[in-house]
Amino acid sequence: MKIGNTVIDPPILLAPMAGVSNRAFRAISRSQGASLCTTEMVNANALAHRSAKSYWLMELDPGETPVGIQIAGSDPELMAQAAVEAEAHGADLVDINMGCPVKKVVNNGDGSALLNDADRAVSVVEAVVQAVKIPVTVKMRAGWDHDSITAPDLAPLFEKVGAQAIALHARTRSDQYARPANWDFIRQVRERVSIPLIGNGDVETPEDALRMLETTGADAVMIGRASFGDPWIFRRVTHYLDKGEHLPPPSAEERAQMARWHLDRMVEIKGESVAIPEMRKQLAWYLKGTPGSAEFRKRTQKLTTKAEASALISEWLEHARHEELTWN
Ligand SMILES: Cc1cc2nc3c(=O)[nH]c(=O)nc-3n(C[C@H](O)[C@H](O)[C@H](O)COP(=O)(O)O)c2cc1C
Repeated sequence: MKIGNTVIDPPILLAPMAGVSNRAFRAISRSQGASLCTTEMVNANALAHRSAKSYWLMELDPGETPVGIQIAGSDPELMAQAAVEAEAHGADLVDINMGCPVKKVVNNGDGSALLNDADRAVSVVEAVVQAVKIPVTVKMRAGWDHDSITAPDLAPLFEKVGAQAIALHARTRSDQYARPANWDFIRQVRERVSIPLIGNGDVETPEDALRMLETTGADAVMIGRASFGDPWIFRRVTHYLDKGEHLPPPSAEERAQMARWHLDRMVEIKGESVAIPEMRKQLAWYLKGTPGSAEFRKRTQKLTTKAEASALISEWLEHARHEELTWN
């Protein structure tokens, strides 16, 4: 798949995820085969107010490519400014958020609220396209609720004003995460656009990825939650799509090593006092799959220093070596 001049190969992408897809996690996902990674969403309004956090979210690792910076907002002018910043930060693509279901976001008319306001949504895409030279993509849900499935009508309008790819999370805003994704929404959008289409929602296994590509006509698959504590999912999916065979799951050693790398990088990027609380849930995801690992996961919630976290990983590894790993 190509978006503008950017080659996306293999067609397996890491989803933008606030609180997760930071520089550390993007590097890990890329190392396991995710071909395009996207930042956490950056609020265009906060950026216009020179919020240090927003600038920080746009920082990329040296040489990090291809990478998208995702911006969120509903004011075309502010979104255009945010896109210019994203381009200046070195993004290969700028992605517009039209999926975020969070109340605080939609109450401002941002995120998935744009799915209800076609004129504004198109103005936002058009303004962003006009403001930058890099390709513009839109990540959207299928609609606000099941009585207003607007993505199949909106996507061709976005294509017409210059969007170069659409990522569809196959749920509505009202579904939040409570209902399973309905991949038929992806197929419906496929029928209406000729730009690259990225399918997203509930891909948990290599078989899911293949089934999504085959049944929807999507050009690529975007994976979010299934990568938590399991960035190897990108490698397993790629291998399965290439060879039709399964790679074995990672060993306990590999998991401990990855958890430690993630921990170190997060501490480097964010400092210990911010990184450790954020790493608690991440570590809990890595340290699973052994009988008795629930106890280790519980202990991750009390971690306060890097030394404690590192010691817990070592202890888990010792324990895991004596147990048979399962992947669940
Ligand atoms: C913790 C979390 C944070 C998320 N943050 C964003 C975000 O900043 N921007 C966005 O477009 N989607 C965001 N999403 C949605 C994901 O990108 C993705 O569409 C969704 O999780 C469905 O894919 P999955 O079933 O593979 O997880 C987030 C999801 C999660 C779980």
